[in-house]
Amino acid sequence: MAKPKVYATHSLFEAAREILQKGCDVEYWSKAGRPPREEVLRCVKDKEGLICLLTEKVNEELLGAAPKLRIAANVAVGYDNIDLAACTKRGVAATNTPGVLDETTADFAWTLLMAVARRLSEGEELARSGNWKNWDLDQLVGTDVWGKTLGIVGFGRIGRAVARRASGFQMKVIYTDAVRATAEAEKELKAEFREMNTLLGESDFISLHVPLLPETRGLFDAAKFSKMKPTAFLINTSRGPVVNEAALVAALESGKIAGAGLDVYENEPLIHRGLKRANVVLAPHIASASLETRTKMACMAAENVVALFTGKRPPNILNPEVLKTP
Ligand code: DGY
Repeated sequence: MAKPKVYATHSLFEAAREILQKGCDVEYWSKAGRPPREEVLRCVKDKEGLICLLTEKVNEELLGAAPKLRIAANVAVGYDNIDLAACTKRGVAATNTPGVLDETTADFAWTLLMAVARRLSEGEELARSGNWKNWDLDQLVGTDVWGKTLGIVGFGRIGRAVARRASGFQMKVIYTDAVRATAEAEKELKAEFREMNTLLGESDFISLHVPLLPETRGLFDAAKFSKMKPTAFLINTSRGPVVNEAALVAALESGKIAGAGLDVYENEPLIHRGLKRANVVLAPHIASASLETRTKMACMAAENVVALFTGKRPPNILNPEVLKTP
């Protein structure tokens, strides 16, 4: 029997290719960079499966170009690149990769937090430049992290993994979320619930961990920045559009907040010019980018595809209702 045809918009990792090779006939995009849109639309024409990254929009246009498509497996936990309603309407299963990247992403939120507080980028630049002339008492003095208050916006798996790391720094942890955590979880993580406005006023560091949804788009706007302490830092490893970048730049320029550590941007890969300043640490959307974690993510996507084509429920299905469609 012919194997189902799958298009993968990345060559993935060997471990994921091995999972796929048994049951699927996979065409991989293996050139450098991301495939041009026309290439993706051309390649999905005769495919029943798609493995894609967050750089590919799985929307009406793509679904229309892929009449045989049965599954779109995203190699990411966030799936704002997928029009879930459109997939469901056409009976296409959509999957993501939750869980495997929580700790790695939390590590990186802390990387940004530490780097911006302690002015690591500026220090590194000075150290490499050949212009470092002498040690000095007030040279590149930053802000203490230990003992401060960490405010977490979005207390899901990643937010909690960030909270867990705070105890080593003797920090007070407060959080806000649409759904309050259980008393046991709050106790275990030593985290206290706050309404958003209270959290904004109390936090020395605010770390964002919400998915991009209509209600979180532009969540951090001028009004939010005006409620933060002028000594506070914003850390974003969630999705760029959760922050209104123009408002963030204005807040940084006017000293409404002290700085930011950013991994994600409103219009990736473009970065607002106003963010390229000394008190902002910038990274190119790499919070989950450890070899171990990215390999796990690719394997998870592969397993979702194989499950569907072997008549099983894809473990990370986002729209299970399509499985019931005859
Ligand atoms: C995701 O998985 O959503 C990240 O942004 C990439 O790891």
